[in-house]
Amino acid sequence: MSDGMEKILFDPMNHPEWVEPHSLEWYEQLFQEVGEYKYPWKSQFDEERAEKIFVDKITTYLGNGRLLDVGCGHGEFALQFSINAREVVGIDTVEGFIKTGNKNKLKENTYFFVIDGNGNLPFLDNYFDVAYTKKGPRDWYHEGNRIVKPGGLILGFYHAGSYGALRELFPGLYSPRPKPEPNDLLRELKLDDSGLNDIKVELLEEIEYLSTPEDVLLKKCFGQNKKLREIVWKECLQDVEGIFNKHATSKGLKIINYYHLLSAKAS
Ligand SMILES: C[S@@+](CC[C@H](N)C(=O)[O-])C[C@H]1O[C@@H](n2cnc3c(N)ncnc32)[C@H](O)[C@@H]1O
Repeated sequence: MSDGMEKILFDPMNHPEWVEPHSLEWYEQLFQEVGEYKYPWKSQFDEERAEKIFVDKITTYLGNGRLLDVGCGHGEFALQFSINAREVVGIDTVEGFIKTGNKNKLKENTYFFVIDGNGNLPFLDNYFDVAYTKKGPRDWYHEGNRIVKPGGLILGFYHAGSYGALRELFPGLYSPRPKPEPNDLLRELKLDDSGLNDIKVELLEEIEYLSTPEDVLLKKCFGQNKKLREIVWKECLQDVEGIFNKHATSKGLKIINYYHLLSAKAS
């Protein structure tokens, strides 16, 4: 803009077609459109990936024990543990995801069920060695403490927002937000009555490079319907291309992803 002010881009969150990310309606829409929980944008990462830190914690503790994934999506993540584990159980509220998980399972030791993770969980006391959620429900820790054996591991891995270029360069499309703190998650989860011991939250930082201008829009519109995506492309792509091409490195446009990693022991 000629007066030196930044242009405010179209904000799809104000459009009536916008569906609140991570609502039940949004997960159903995502399943109907793509059938799985998988990011559609292209990117590359600097090491070390936050998810690897999470996987290493599970693997180190699990050995050949029993594992529960709360909010497992289409089950792809949980399946990697079924090779060594005695039993892997994944639960999710989206029936289609659970069907896919059961179709793709590698071994008879793996089960996927449609169960609300935030309700009473239909598992025996002290049954599992490890239970985790990867970006799933936030209200299962009291039950988690009951169904994981004393001293067993409980983990919660949650995306805490994407920052860097996204929030600095695309006003309107992405709004500014203060950097997350480890205690944000503790305040939200209210674990005082959960029975869990040794509760710890780490904030993990991960560097990602979005490959093309369209990936900026794909990230914003993840899980939104085709009609809204077409509007966003029409309203924003040209401006986003200009900003992207000015600021991208040879690897792509640098963004920072934060993750909260909760770890605790069952009592
Ligand atoms: C962000 S996705 C992550 C999926 C998978 N864990 C992954 O990382 O690929 C969150 C998942 O949690 C599920 N979910 C949300 N609330 C739930 C609840 N109360 N009980 C069970 N699953 C739930 C959603 O259906 C969705 O599949």
